[in-house]
Amino acid sequence: MRQLVAGNWKMHKLRGPAAALARAIAADSPVLGCDLLICPPFTALAAVAAVLRGSRVALGAQDCHAAESGAFTGDIAAPMLADIGCSAVIVGHSERRQYYGETSAQVRAKAVAAAAAALMAVVCVGESEAERDAGRAAEVVRAQVMESVPDGFEGVVAYEPVWAIGTGRTPTLDDVAAMHAAIRQALRHRLGLDGAGLRILYGGSVKAQNAAALLAVPEVGGALVGGASLDSGEFLRIAAVARRG
Ligand code: PGA
Repeated sequence: MRQLVAGNWKMHKLRGPAAALARAIAADSPVLGCDLLICPPFTALAAVAAVLRGSRVALGAQDCHAAESGAFTGDIAAPMLADIGCSAVIVGHSERRQYYGETSAQVRAKAVAAAAAALMAVVCVGESEAERDAGRAAEVVRAQVMESVPDGFEGVVAYEPVWAIGTGRTPTLDDVAAMHAAIRQALRHRLGLDGAGLRILYGGSVKAQNAAALLAVPEVGGALVGGASLDSGEFLRIAAVARRG
C-alpha cells in the first residue's frame, strides 16, 4: 500500500512563509512516490491552496466543526474547508482532546462531517504516558478507535502516543508494531472487511533520522509529522523513505 506522509503545521506560519514552505515541498513532490498532505493553520489555507494547485500535494486543515453551519462563533465547518481547496482534515488530535476536552464522540461527529463534505478525515488516537505506564495503552487506544471512527469510515487513523509528540521520544519499533496491529484489529472489528485496507499512520517525533525505521514497521501506512514538517528539507527526507506502493 502506498504510504501517506502528512505534515501538521499546528499554529505556525504566517501566509508568506507558509506559501514558501508549500512551494518548496510541491517543487520536489514529482520525484516522490508516496502520497503527500500538508495541513497549515486556517489562515494560511487559501495562500497554500494557490501554491499547491496542480501539484501532487494535498491540502488539509487541522480541525473542523461537526455541524455543516450554524451559530458557532470562531469555528470552521467542513464544507468551508472543501470550498477553500482542502481534501482532508485532521480530527481528534491529542492537543484538541487535551486542551479543549474533545471526546471521542465529538471526534466521530467531526469525522462524519468531514466525509459529508468529501474530506478525508485523519482521526488521531494515542495514549498518555500515565496510561502507558499503567499498562493500559492498548486498551485506551482500542477504545478511542471504536468510539472515534464512524460507520462507513474511509479516512485514515493516526496513532500518536501523547508522550511522543514534540518530545523527541518514540516508542520502540516493537511497541509501534504491536499498537498498529491492535488498531488494525479494532478497525476490522468496527468496520468489518473495510477496516482491513485503511491506512494507519504513526505520529510523534518522526524525523528524517528515524523515519525509515518507523515506516518499515508492519501496518504503518505512513507518518503524521509535526515539528519536522516545518522544514521542507527534513519533511522531504521523510517522504523520500516512504513506500510508493
Ligand atoms: P511531532 O508532532 O512530530 O512534533 O511530535 C506530531 C503531531 O502532533 O502530529
